[in-house]
Amino acid sequence: MNLDFSQIVPYIPFMLEGIWATLEFVIVSILIGLVLGTLLALCKITKAPLLKGLADVYTSIFRGTPLILQLMIIYFAVPQLTGYDIPAFLSAILAFGLNSAAYVSEIIRAGIMAVDKGQTEAAEALGVPYRPMMFNIILPQAIKNILPALMNEFITLTKESAIVSTIGYLDLMRRAQIVGADIYRNFEPLLVAGAIYWIMIFVLTKVGQAVERRMRQSD
Ligand code: ARG
Repeated sequence: MNLDFSQIVPYIPFMLEGIWATLEFVIVSILIGLVLGTLLALCKITKAPLLKGLADVYTSIFRGTPLILQLMIIYFAVPQLTGYDIPAFLSAILAFGLNSAAYVSEIIRAGIMAVDKGQTEAAEALGVPYRPMMFNIILPQAIKNILPALMNEFITLTKESAIVSTIGYLDLMRRAQIVGADIYRNFEPLLVAGAIYWIMIFVLTKVGQAVERRMRQSD
């Protein structure tokens, strides 16, 4: 057994800063994914074949290729075409946001389909226009079914965020690698990073459970 945590003590602030570096782009990506994913889900349930087709193709591409490949295309390959470098942060929120939208759109589509058809029929019979029907009647009911799957998506995204270390973004994972290379010891920094990821997911799960409980109260 050869563990010595004393050497990473001076690096602890450096690693802790990685928490925010990671959270920052994960939160932005989640928001992009939610907005775009909702729009895509609405496209998928319309009767307009073109919108539906486009949304399906979108999901097929972003769900059918590895996230790390999408990230690398945005960061390394797109500048080759455009001549402009895309900063690591921007590349990360684009790749994660666009990728997450594909998954979120399916989650929301499934949630909307699970709301009783009678709700739509009743709204239509009462002459409620499409937008208020969707945003005030159908989606608020769908959100309860959607929440657990959505929490899963946020958890996946938070952990998957570690792959931005491959484009040099100074997230938690990258920082653990840097510390490991600095002190010639990898176990300790990786263990600390692992513990921090675990705590982040733990907190996220608790927040999700609290929101879920609140929503059930109104039943
Ligand atoms: N490793 C998988 C991939 O590369 C994870 C993607 C997960 N993305 C998501 N938004 N749930 O495709």
